[in-house]
Amino acid sequence: MKRGGTDEQKRAAGESAVDAVSDGMVVGLGTGSTTAYAIRELGRRVDAGLDIEGVPTSYQSRQLAREVGIPLTTLEDATPDLAIDGADQVADGTLIKGGGAAHTREKLVDAAADRLLVVVDPTKEADALDHPVPIEVLPDARRTVAETVADLGGDPQLRAAERKDGPVVTDNGNLVLDCDFGTIEDPAGLARALSALPGVLEHGLFVELADEIHCGTDDGVRVTE
Ligand code: 5RP
Repeated sequence: MKRGGTDEQKRAAGESAVDAVSDGMVVGLGTGSTTAYAIRELGRRVDAGLDIEGVPTSYQSRQLAREVGIPLTTLEDATPDLAIDGADQVADGTLIKGGGAAHTREKLVDAAADRLLVVVDPTKEADALDHPVPIEVLPDARRTVAETVADLGGDPQLRAAERKDGPVVTDNGNLVLDCDFGTIEDPAGLARALSALPGVLEHGLFVELADEIHCGTDDGVRVTE
């Protein structure tokens, strides 16, 4: 399900977004392999004297930020000036996220930030969104949400853990339904419908949140506002 460009493309995108970070900023730290390049670069700059605090969006990004020496804070104590985050698919500025099952906290931090910079490689760009939409559900809501998703025209699949029997369990202790809606003609309408379902913590459609897309290519970084 995950799409992926080259490590060089991801590194270029991540480091390009980090160029927007300056002293005194609070930075939302997204999740995933592309954002990891940004977090490592932030760590190098902190080492060289950059004065920032990070707000992680997952256990994974918190651990990496700690490893590379980025001081951390929380949404309780600070509002991010900007967030840097990856995406599984981007079309016309709208994102599908949640390939790492972290989209609930990612949306919380990304939406709280004054600006969201999205870091991707060319395999993530599309003319229209057609990637399955991850939905984090309370375990008790798995069946009822799956049935309503099917009524909405989607094909829900419980995300299975790769390395052990059983489902993926999110950092929040919930399950993920990957819901294939084919080509999504009205992402904002679908986002509203999914948000309204009882038992849905959050879905991976990020509508009108991205301020800039930094796409790492073999010939440099293409920034779209
Ligand atoms: C995690 C996410 C990630 O940002 C998304 O899956 C992209 O990851 P990667 O950069 O590894 O392709 O939404 O929930």
